[in-house]
Parts: sequence; C-alpha cells; structure tokens
Amino acid sequence: MSVPRSIIVEVQQLREQLVEHNYRYHVLDAPVVTDQEYDRLFRRLQQLENEHPELVTPDSPSQRVGAEPASEFESVRHEVAMLSLDNAFDDDEMLAFDRRLRDGLDQQQALAYVAEPKLDGLALSLLYEGGELVRAATRGDGRQGENITANARTIDSIPLRLRGDQLPARIEVRGEVYMDHAGFAALNEAQRQAGGKVFANPRNAAAGSLRLLDSRITAARPLTFCSYGVGLCEGTELPGGQYEQMLYLREIGFPISRQIERLDSIEDCIEYYRRMLDRRDALAFDIDGVVFKLDDRRLQQQAGFVSRAPRWAIAYKFPAQEVMTRLLAVDFQVGRTGALTPVARLDPVAVGGVMVSNATLHNMDEIERKDVRIGDSVIVRRAGDVIPEVVAPVIERREGRLRRPRMPARCPVCDSEVVQQPGQAVHRCTGGLVCAAQRKEAIKHYASRKAMDIEGLGDKLVEQMVEAGMIDAVDDLYELSLEQIAGLERMAEKSAQNLLDALQRSKRTTLARFIYALGVREVGEATAEALAAHYADLRAIMDADIDSLQQVEDVGPVVAENIRHFFDQQQNRAAVARLLEHGVYWPAEERQRSDSSLEGHTYVITGTLDGYSRDEAARLLKARGAKVSGSVSGKTSAVIAGENPGSKLARAETLGVEVLDQAGFEALLDD
Ligand code: IVH
Repeated sequence: MSVPRSIIVEVQQLREQLVEHNYRYHVLDAPVVTDQEYDRLFRRLQQLENEHPELVTPDSPSQRVGAEPASEFESVRHEVAMLSLDNAFDDDEMLAFDRRLRDGLDQQQALAYVAEPKLDGLALSLLYEGGELVRAATRGDGRQGENITANARTIDSIPLRLRGDQLPARIEVRGEVYMDHAGFAALNEAQRQAGGKVFANPRNAAAGSLRLLDSRITAARPLTFCSYGVGLCEGTELPGGQYEQMLYLREIGFPISRQIERLDSIEDCIEYYRRMLDRRDALAFDIDGVVFKLDDRRLQQQAGFVSRAPRWAIAYKFPAQEVMTRLLAVDFQVGRTGALTPVARLDPVAVGGVMVSNATLHNMDEIERKDVRIGDSVIVRRAGDVIPEVVAPVIERREGRLRRPRMPARCPVCDSEVVQQPGQAVHRCTGGLVCAAQRKEAIKHYASRKAMDIEGLGDKLVEQMVEAGMIDAVDDLYELSLEQIAGLERMAEKSAQNLLDALQRSKRTTLARFIYALGVREVGEATAEALAAHYADLRAIMDADIDSLQQVEDVGPVVAENIRHFFDQQQNRAAVARLLEHGVYWPAEERQRSDSSLEGHTYVITGTLDGYSRDEAARLLKARGAKVSGSVSGKTSAVIAGENPGSKLARAETLGVEVLDQAGFEALLDD
C-alpha cells in the first residue's frame, strides 16, 4: 500500500510552507499570510497525515499537539552549567561593574556590550543534534534540570529542526520561556470559567504550564520562547561577538529579542536601561530589568566566572512590580454606580517605583477566592497605569487567627442599604443620588477627559465642591460663580477664571460624549458612540424601547435595560433638561459626518500623532463611520503611522497595506 507520489510531494510542500510561515511569524516578525491561511495549510497537512499515518515525522509542524502524559520528569545533567546573573540596582553599580571588568581585562578603552530585556519567565535549554531538537530541559539547580522535551515541542516559537545547510553537529541554545500579557489574561479567564487554578502572574503561569506532565495541556497554553545565548556548540565555529552570535541564532531559526542592541560603552548601556524603563509598560510581556553582556566573546572567556555568575554579564534590575507588605485594613469605596469596592489599606511600600498605600481587592468573591485576611502579609502588584492590586496573601507568613473582611450591610457613606443582585459579584449601595459618594463619582465622570473634558476640574476639586455643598449634581457645575470657586482652598482667582472658561467650553460637545458623560451603567465610550450613530438624536435615545435599543451594535439586553431604566427616572430626565437649558449642545455638523465619509473602512493607528492623542484620533475616525482596530490584517484599509511607529508599520508593509502619515490622516478628516 504505497502512498501516491503526489501526496508525498504535497505533504512535503505543506511542511516547508508551514515551517517558513512559522519562522516569518515568530522569528522575523514579518508574516506574509493571515492566520486563516496558516490554519488552512495546517489542517490540510493534518488531514493528509491522518489519511497516511506512515508519512508522519517527528519534526512535522503537526507534531506540536502534545504527547501521552508522563508520570514524572526524567532528570538531566547540563553538560555546561546554567549560571545565573549578578544584579545591579543603580547606575553606580553599573559603572562599578564596568570598571571591575576593565581592570580585570586590563582595558583602558570603553567596552562594547550587548543589551536585551530581562524576560520574566523561566530558563530553558534546547539541545539540537544534526539540526534536530533532541532534548529540552529546565535550569533546575543549574547543573541538573528536568527533561521537558514533550512540553517544549508544543511551543510554536521553538524550532523542531534548524534552518540552513551548514549546521553544527550539536548545539545547545538557551533562552527564556514566558507568557505575554494577552495570553496570560486569556488563560486566566478560561481557568476562572472552568473553575481551574488562576495564576498570580505571567511568570507563574509560564512555569506552571511548562511543568505539566500532560503536554497536551501545555500545547494549549500561550507560551513563547526567546533565545539569549549558547551553552555548547560542536562542529561549527560561532562568530566572535555576542551580538553576531545572536544574529546567527536568528538565522538558524531562533527568535531573539526585538530590542537587542549592541552598545559602545557603559554610558550607552545606562541610557538603554532608561529607554527600556520608559517602554516597560508598553511592552506586551513582563520584563524585570535589562541584561548586559560583554560583546567580545574572547574577552568573556578571559573574564571568566565568579561563583555562579559570569563576570562579563550583569542584570540591571527595574524597580519590582510585585512586593510584599502588610494588609492593615479593608475599607469599602463607593463608585459612581453605587458598587462597593473593597480597598486594601497597606503598610506603605514602593512598587514599580512609586509609594503605594492603597490597592484594590476587586470584589468579595476575589477576597474569598484568594482567602485574604486583615493582618496578612500580601503581594501587591502595580504594573503600568493599572491601579495597584492585591495579588495574594502569603499564607506561610500568617500568624494566629486573622479576621476575614466583611461587606458592610449599610453604605459607609450614606447609610443606605447595601444589596447584591443574584448571580453578580458586586454589592451596591441603594442610595442613588442621595449618596454623596455616588454624586461625587458621577460628577467626576461627567468632567473626565473622555466625557465633557472639563479641563482643570480634577477629582480633588469635585470632592471639595461636593463637601462644601456647592454642587449636588452635574448641572450645578454650570451655575458656579467666580467668587464661589475662588473661595475654595488653594484656588487662585486666575485658576478660578480658567475653570469657568473650561466649563463654558465644555458645553460644546458631541452627542456621543454627552451620552457617555451621563454615566449610564455599562454604557462606555464605544456604546455611547454606537447609540449616537444609530439614533443621531438624544430624544430618540431617551424614548427608545428595549427592543429598539437592542438593534444598536454591542447593546444586549442588560445594557438596553440599564439605558431604559436610566431614562425612566424622572430625576435623570430633569437633569438632562437642565444641562440643555444651561446651553450644552452638539453641533449638527458632527452628526452628519458621523454616518458617512469613512464608512466601511478600517484603520489601525501606531506611533504618536502631533496634536492628537490615540483616543482622540480614533474618535475622529469613528465619528466619520470608520472602524478602528488594534491589529493589522489584509482587511485593514490603511495604517496611520505617527512618530515612532511600532511593529504595526512593519506588518502593514509586509502585507502591502497602505500607510498614511500625519498629513494623510488629516486629509482623511477633511474629506
Ligand atoms: S543570560 C550567563 N539573558 O535571568 C548568562 N538571562 O538571573 C545567563 N533571563 O536564568 C543568562 N532574560 O532565565 C540572560 N536576556 C537574558 C535573559 C536572562 C531573562 C533570565 C534567565 C536566567 C536569569 C538569571
């Protein structure tokens, strides 16, 4: 029973195509096919291999689906020990590292270094013989690790076979396995829904996923590999520079850091560190510092090692984004919609470079799930602009009997009853606008940038005004006098006048912003825009019935119910009427545009546009009927690239998608 030659050829071609696409996607970061096309080729290969199992080879791209579960991991000895890195925590320690190195090597001139982000995952060793992946191992204690080959094979960015025809007889490549933010969030969401284990951070999720005995589960985990060095190499001379060596690894099939740079001096290293620190929050994955390695590999050899770390490399660490502190108390904060959020009061501690004394605990379900108690040592995380959160208690440090936080039966601000809707995690104060907390939040929301954008009316000022009894509701803002404002603490007459001007300016708005500003529960910016585009008239929205509302994009039964409920309340209708009486309006012109000129077009924005925030640019495009997306595909009409564009620009270029600059963007708005 021989397989027809045409099938053998097709299988061969499919494999070559898939390997090539995989390489372009994971290593070159320049895919030439869509995900759908890749999946189609993949499914065709699977189909042919199912029909002709004798054609299956271990390095076929289809063989990344995991194998039968193992009962334990075999232990493996590293032929070359896997070392760790010395750390530096400030510029002086970096300068001292460089000085030590130069003294030791008797070098007067500046030393060149290679810089890469320090990925926050776990180390992996990959051994290739004759170009084929034969073993993958964890670092373990540095001398002995665990054989996790079956798991590593499921990671798409790890080559099963190397590229090129002059391959080393044996090469051991090392790198980091990690999970990016999107993958981590998706995994945790899926785990939560399935009632499984929720991971505290991407690092733990990556470690847990890589060390599963059932590699079929690992196959479904969003793991990524990035190489950073070579352990052993036999049968080929590697380039003499670390940087060149990394380029060689990329050539033979390994992903390397996109941020890798060769730098001429330690001063440039310090400058690189600052740049990376600035970019930290914009990266798609966690990094906990930057690793610098001497570029000259001959000098590396000369410098040698001290205890368990090379003298020629150092990790310049970032301020930790996760730290431990004590949970002193739990208070409950009342939000705009009355939701009570448990807030952790912490022993103040520096996290990610700023002092933190409060952190969110999300809701009671989370507190229970994590079993957080008052007095616990807790891990606090603060990453990017995200509000600090309590990740988990450190149970091992718990002493004695600690009290669990309890949801109060009455609102801590207005003493109204607190209720929980069946099936929902949130508890809410029933006080509505009687509750000063809800009133304050409603006004803050109304004034916020994406709503009425009242410049100078910050949260503190709103609180002061509500507490002083100057305002109760949003429409009161437009009755404030110069004397009243100037009478507030720390308010100069000039600032008071500025605020009055800003209030005046805010009256001219758009229908979408106005709807958003009203603060209807679960009506965010996108929904407000959809409502404005659909009805183009406030009255029509206020009077729409539930069925009609559900015709609007993104509006389901719950949101429709919220909108209806909001406008059924006399006090809300009266507030809207008063705002209009005060002169809030939206020019009709914005409306006419809103349903036409860019309809059917999808844009992706990357980089910085002069004079427009990303949000603002997106809003202007959407107001003209366009869609704005976060990722470039064959369907993208154009990519709008400002200063310092990201990888989306490269992706547009490989896909042949039109690219517009600032002028092109502005021309779109003028059409
Ligand atoms: S080089 C001898 N480069 O950090 C050099 N390590 O603290 C050893 N890591 O075990 C490692 N990103 O898991 C190197 N670009 C990078 C790295 C990196 C993350 C991890 C690695 C290592 C640990 C040492």
